[in-house]
Amino acid sequence: MIMDRNMESTSTSTFPVAVSCEGLTKAFGKGEARVKALRGVDMKVKNGELLMLVGPSGCGKTTLISIIAGVLRRDAGECIIFERDYDCMSEDETTLFRGKNIGFVFQAFNLIPSLTTAENVATPLIINGLKPRDAVRKARDILAEVGFDHRMMESLPTDLSGGQQQRVAIARALVHQPRLIVCDEPTSALDAETGRKVMELLQRLGRGENRALVVVTHDSRIFDFADRIAEMNDGRITQVVSSARELTTAQSKIE
Ligand SMILES: Nc1ncnc2c1ncn2[C@@H]1O[C@H](COP(=O)(O)OP(=O)(O)OP(=O)(O)O)[C@@H](O)[C@H]1O
Ligand SMILES: [Mg+2]
Repeated sequence: MIMDRNMESTSTSTFPVAVSCEGLTKAFGKGEARVKALRGVDMKVKNGELLMLVGPSGCGKTTLISIIAGVLRRDAGECIIFERDYDCMSEDETTLFRGKNIGFVFQAFNLIPSLTTAENVATPLIINGLKPRDAVRKARDILAEVGFDHRMMESLPTDLSGGQQQRVAIARALVHQPRLIVCDEPTSALDAETGRKVMELLQRLGRGENRALVVVTHDSRIFDFADRIAEMNDGRITQVVSSARELTTAQSKIE
């Protein structure tokens, strides 16, 4: 019941910022194998904003957005999402919060191989209590928006190309209209035109009052969609700029 009240307050209040990270740290492994993936990340994502996160391979981008999305626990520091703190939630509360508020496009898509395309996309709605039939209907609507026909909606993920799987993963992240959409390289397998269409869809459905998007990317073709670009290096945010032209390193040249 307390949990429900919390969820309710999340769905009605207005928040100054969507995401607030301060001094965030995370290490993997022990002893000599220990890797400090995040070394004190300070970052804010405003409501209504699309923030892109760029930086070289291994600098900690996936680690950071996994903590923001509540799929990975931090070691230290602060990470507040719509005024809630995963560290103050039980596992069940975290699952509920994520199911309602977060859409995550994983770098490796993470589609469920035994479910059809439409069933994969319907999953977040079913988790949120919608009847499977209604959930699949909504899933079909959003799949049509990312260019899927009826036959493809019944395909299994293994029968789809990388670009098609990526579009399914994006549809699944959007279908329950989450407050925060977090995408790890959402256009990496897409041609330029499809990439733009997907970004337009992400912007249309993901941006708005009390909503925000964080998009990890190496794809300079989509930089124009960003309100701000945060650059990471070696586990820290090194600069935040409002256009790719202001990036002082080679990021803007990376395709
Ligand atoms: N589960 C894990 N176990 C051990 N080390 C990990 C794990 N996840 C990430 N790391 C390490 O943490 C560092 C940051 O990894 P991360 O995946 O966040 O980088 P990234 O910026 O997303 O890279 P890429 O652009 O290649 O996807 C790397 O050195 C990586 O090897
Ligand atoms: Mg990554």
